[in-house]
Amino acid sequence: MARPRQAPIAPGATIGILGSGQLGRMIALDAARLGYRCHAFGPGAGDPAMQVCAAATVAPYDDEQALAAFAAAVDVVTYEFENVPYAAAAFLADRALVRPGPAVLKICQNRLREKDFCASVGAPTTRYVEVGGPEAVARELRELGAPAILKSAEMGYDGKGQVLVKADSDPRAAWETMAGHAPEAIGILEALVDFRMEISVIAARGLDGQINTYVPVENRHRHHILDETLAPARLPPALADKAEGLARLLAEKLELVGVVAVEMFVTSDDRILVNEMAPRPHNSGHWTIDACVTSQFEQLVRAICGLPLGSTERHADAVMKNLIGDEVERWREAVGEPNSKVHLYGKAEARPGRKMGHVTRLLPKRQG
Ligand SMILES: Nc1ncnc2c1ncn2[C@@H]1O[C@H](COP(=O)(O)OP(=O)(O)O)[C@@H](O)[C@H]1O
Ligand SMILES: [Mg+2]
Repeated sequence: MARPRQAPIAPGATIGILGSGQLGRMIALDAARLGYRCHAFGPGAGDPAMQVCAAATVAPYDDEQALAAFAAAVDVVTYEFENVPYAAAAFLADRALVRPGPAVLKICQNRLREKDFCASVGAPTTRYVEVGGPEAVARELRELGAPAILKSAEMGYDGKGQVLVKADSDPRAAWETMAGHAPEAIGILEALVDFRMEISVIAARGLDGQINTYVPVENRHRHHILDETLAPARLPPALADKAEGLARLLAEKLELVGVVAVEMFVTSDDRILVNEMAPRPHNSGHWTIDACVTSQFEQLVRAICGLPLGSTERHADAVMKNLIGDEVERWREAVGEPNSKVHLYGKAEARPGRKMGHVTRLLPKRQG
């Protein structure tokens, strides 16, 4: 339902960003183009976002004095990753506008709550069950069928905290791989999906309830880290529409103000299952910077500031390649290619598995 438009937070205002990585950096760059200032809050001095924001607070997320000062210094707060502590977002929400709201963060930072939420709104997921220890893993594996994937319910990313459990796996070893020795760990055991493609859809929802989606894109992972995104995904139109519809449904039911990335599986029998949601710009949406009228980052700024959403129309197809670890050196060739755009995140040290930058190659637009 469309709501009447509230007065926007106009350019000149300051956007607070919780988190200071490359997503924060790209939010700040697009915000600046619209005339906003950004203030990043995070634990690491000199982080990618800090380098381009007008102001920065370097403090731990539980520093209430620093959080209160941050809330007082900004006009609206958003976040660039979903593992910022819920308590920090809730503390800020008592003192400032936080968009998306902390309730969205709470759902998306726990895989069980996230899948329960999907189920409650009719978005299909793989079968899953909560597990509290190795005995439960052994028991539920028999119910769910082996192999299955054991994931930590919270704080996982890039495949961390995940383990494949086979019929003959030792449940205790699997549990320890997933949870380390954390006594309070909660796990989720998921039926393995026989997928033919991984896709994602980014949806934005404005303050007035308007929802815009980008075309579904195809994601290829290497060592559990996104390696390449193909935009658009090579899907028949009916499946692409279905995927966009699911992202739209989730954005609406979350009552989101902001952007959400919905990762999905396309199964070998052409069903679409939701894997996970991220209530923020997403690595698989980086191509929108160079190939769309409005990037996912500008779209976030528009949504949280109460501006009308921008067009998600693309003027080119694209392949986005992440530069991970040593691959960052590839900027040297890419920067000379006429249809490539190089993005580097300003990280000093190219550790293995670290996202250092990306290259978007623009291609002639196919149909659609
Ligand atoms: N239930 C599943 N069945 C098959 N593959 C899965 C399943 N869950 C995750 N995967 C694979 O592992 C990758 C990472 O899992 P995901 O849940 O997206 O966690 P994260 O991206 O937070 O590390 C997915 O992109 C997919 O390739
Ligand atoms: Mg994922």
